Amino acid sequence: MESPEQRREALSDLSREAHACVRCALAKTRTTVVFGSGDPDAELMFIGEAPGKREDEAGTPFIGAAGKLLDKLLGEIGMQRSDVFVANVLKCRPPDNRDPRPSEIEECSSYLHSQISLIAPRLICTLGNFSTKLLRADPTGITELHGSPEVVLLGGHSVRLYPVFHPAAALYKPSAVEVMRADFARIPALLKLPLPDPQEEELKAPSPAVEVKLIEEPGGQIGMF
Ligand code: URA
Repeated sequence: MESPEQRREALSDLSREAHACVRCALAKTRTTVVFGSGDPDAELMFIGEAPGKREDEAGTPFIGAAGKLLDKLLGEIGMQRSDVFVANVLKCRPPDNRDPRPSEIEECSSYLHSQISLIAPRLICTLGNFSTKLLRADPTGITELHGSPEVVLLGGHSVRLYPVFHPAAALYKPSAVEVMRADFARIPALLKLPLPDPQEEELKAPSPAVEVKLIEEPGGQIGMF
């Protein structure tokens, strides 16, 4: 087991590696790599889709309009950005904010999996479809899954996944903001729930790319890949 200092150092090394990344063509069009930001020891992680224009310029995730909504919803549950770690599925902006391509997600996903394994959060809020589908290794969409927590095994740790709508999708839709608000309201209680010991569970990787297994979640999703 690594010490907190070793994990922080490994996260800094990973960030340096990502900043030099040329695994996909987005390296040619990005301004900067948006690795992620926040508390490296956070119990709560948010994972979005990909940097937008503002984030690409600044190197920080969720600083545009969607980020402002994220901050507002966090504030309403008594938390702020510095309490959490925020990252994206893709670390580089797709041109014109087009959807991430499967090949880009595949090339980039090891950074996200390493981040999760080093930060070892208790709760991961996947924001929208891309991060939800990637971390669940399943194509079920966010409309069906939002607000349903489930425990999975990621990077050797039990973690509770909690899909919520992407704030950008809620920006111009007040009804979606209310759904997000209700989903966010459960976050403090979810952070307090115990997590099963992965050593006591039978491990099984559902796909070669992602080590994830649903374990069990009373009142939420129950299933197994
Ligand atoms: N949308 C995302 O998914 N991520 C960001 O960092 C900004 C907007």
